[in-house]
Amino acid sequence: MEDLETLVERAGREFDQACDTPALENAKARYLGKGGALTALLKSLGRLPAEERKSAGQAINAAKARLEQALEARRAALAEAALNDRLAEEALDVTLPGRGRGGGGLHPMMRTWQRVEQIFRTVGFDVADGPEIETDWYNFTALNNPENHPARSMQDTFYVDLKDAQGLNLLLRTHTSPMQVRYARMHPPPIKVIAPGRTYRVDSDATHSPMFHQVEGLWIDEDISFADLKGVYTDFLHRFFETDALEVRFRPSFFPFTEPSAEIDMMFDSGPLKGRWLEISGSGQVHPNVVRNFGLDPERYIGFAFGSGLERLTMLRYGIDDLRLFFDGDLRFLRQFA
Ligand code: PHE
Repeated sequence: MEDLETLVERAGREFDQACDTPALENAKARYLGKGGALTALLKSLGRLPAEERKSAGQAINAAKARLEQALEARRAALAEAALNDRLAEEALDVTLPGRGRGGGGLHPMMRTWQRVEQIFRTVGFDVADGPEIETDWYNFTALNNPENHPARSMQDTFYVDLKDAQGLNLLLRTHTSPMQVRYARMHPPPIKVIAPGRTYRVDSDATHSPMFHQVEGLWIDEDISFADLKGVYTDFLHRFFETDALEVRFRPSFFPFTEPSAEIDMMFDSGPLKGRWLEISGSGQVHPNVVRNFGLDPERYIGFAFGSGLERLTMLRYGIDDLRLFFDGDLRFLRQFA
């Protein structure tokens, strides 16, 4: 039989060499488990003569107690080492600088869109929005622009090769004016609304893009006149450009859906664009035929409409000289507005 002392020493060494918990538990099984060396010794006690049994039993039990102590000590050491490893691995250096948030910003066009909404809301205009794929009826016919009328060619249209559920021809709206009719047919007068949104025309160069933005304005009541249009629009320009140092003029023009019609021009009194008339919006008194298509009596209801290009307003406000910059997605350009 192996000397008890040697056995305890050997077991102690194996425990100390176990580098993780499974290895340690295996070592334990070799000595203290059911088939372990020390357990075998205990079982063999019965074969000893009675007078030796007691002292041998005490010696083996003492050895067993030492082994269990060594085992516990190693278990604790391994647990602490594991904890230290984990702490080291998960350490967080709270002194590192933050990663920062990606600096997002609104596109300058969207800034204008929001600004226009804000300004008109303060003078009591509702804000509406509607479909970009429009029926030819809302886009043209209802606006006093009948089929085959030459005025339709004022706008080069993207037609869609589909019909809507009622069999009406579809197109990409060429202006926001169909929103006049859509809104007026759903809201009783007084009607006071703007409708900003995307519009489409077959056009592409430094000052035209096939997709662009307009804002429509419509004010209809029993006594709304051209003077109200002048007042509302001039006030809007002063607030949009944050200056009263600009001139506004209404230049006679033609639109099928307004009579009389006018282009609105403006001119800055100072700055790089000083002294140049700049065309900025179509406008006019809503044509009686259109008021009829609103479902209203033109003998009773009257008012004005305007349609302004949001890109144009944005370019003038920020001094941008090429429309294509809006659609290139060049961050060097966009960051200037963030
Ligand atoms: N819809 C016209 C255009 O796009 C602008 C306009 C709107 C003119 C309302 C008069 C009244 O050119």
